[in-house]
Amino acid sequence: MQNITFKVVPGGPLKGRMRVPGDKSMSHRTVMLGSLAEGRTDIEGFLEGEDSLATVAAFRAMGVSIEGPRSGRLVIEGVGMHGLKPSSQPLYLGNSGTSMRLLTGILAGQTFDTNLTGDESLSLRPMGRVADPLAAMGAVIKTNNGLPPVSIAGNPNMVGIDYLMPVASAQVKSCLLLAGMYAKGRTCVTERVPTRDHTERMLTGFGYVLRRSENRVCIEGGGKLQGTALRIPGDISSAAFFMVGATLKEGSQLLIENVGVNPTRIGVINILRQMGADIALSKIREVAGEPVADVMVKYSPLKGIRIPPEQVSLAIDEFPAIFIAAAHAKGETILTGAAELRVKESDRIQTMADGLKILGIQAKPTPDGMVISGGRLSNGRIHSHGDHRVAMAFAMAGLVAQEAIYIDDCANVNTSFPGFVSLARTVGLDIEICAAGTS
Ligand code: S3P
Repeated sequence: MQNITFKVVPGGPLKGRMRVPGDKSMSHRTVMLGSLAEGRTDIEGFLEGEDSLATVAAFRAMGVSIEGPRSGRLVIEGVGMHGLKPSSQPLYLGNSGTSMRLLTGILAGQTFDTNLTGDESLSLRPMGRVADPLAAMGAVIKTNNGLPPVSIAGNPNMVGIDYLMPVASAQVKSCLLLAGMYAKGRTCVTERVPTRDHTERMLTGFGYVLRRSENRVCIEGGGKLQGTALRIPGDISSAAFFMVGATLKEGSQLLIENVGVNPTRIGVINILRQMGADIALSKIREVAGEPVADVMVKYSPLKGIRIPPEQVSLAIDEFPAIFIAAAHAKGETILTGAAELRVKESDRIQTMADGLKILGIQAKPTPDGMVISGGRLSNGRIHSHGDHRVAMAFAMAGLVAQEAIYIDDCANVNTSFPGFVSLARTVGLDIEICAAGTS
């Protein structure tokens, strides 16, 4: 892959109004449910990033007719619960853990076999967490010692299970619910801590009945999905970089419109507010079963905090950005209970600590978190390790650095946030793309 380097020069403030691309989690799920539905599904606000496009390509390879995306519009002609066809090739899912884990659930109950592969980073991500409970349902799945590639021998005779989640993971929960649609009887998933509930909301939107109580969700096999029209809001995980940037840089005042503010996703707002951020939500409304708001962020000095453990799963993708906020805050920020960060697109505890140290910040990685002493960010050259969120988080650090920051290995920003650089420039970030490794 042609790689790129970001160069960010101290500048700003961040000003004006903006919209970020559609929510990645919801984009994947619309393709999956729309493909399995009866009739047409018409989507607006679809994320045209590499991850969600990998899901589109996978369903096309299984015979689903999908038009677009064009300016965020995607039209899917659903094939029904039993209309997928075997792919002649392994399904290549690039960098996308969500595609691989959720598809494993759908494909386990088919009448045909499928192989799933991914890029170097995805090939290091744990799949036992989905393969093991699926095996308890009767699925026949082979992995490479718990890692991809994943080989699925379809079994249309799976049975429902009652599963208590050992890790907080919306991907595992979603995988089992999707598999549960194909299993005999009832599949129930109980969570110790809540994780994003887009699958539950969207299944309901497609007319599939679920039973939900506080920390438990149950689905009966053998139901149907009905095609629908839906609008996907902006991804709060993408907005988070700009929330942090505007908070850090004096004089900033930024309105981010049309952001999904599902309560299982707003940990970043809760944490930044506790650190002293000035973030206000307005025009709160419900769109396609999901809460949406406009988010106004103004500069505010920050203080270090002990991050409340109950916020960790609600902000799981936002820690790279939150670590940058902590690096610029007064005092110490302590994160615990976040070992999951070590198995994301990179080991986000290590990659972020390494980058912060290059910028002169004391950052001590621990097995399940980090201790960061806020200070003055200097300048230097950061390696993102191909992790889109690490790259974008350090881009925001550039706003308050002493001199230019170079961030290497940034091509994967396109997995979740196509157009990041040009959009960031429109609100005042002094960022440019250089050929790999240049300075
Ligand atoms: C996601 C769930 C989270 C998150 C990922 C998207 C989803 O992963 O980190 O970016 O769409 O369900 P885990 O389930 O591994 O926590």
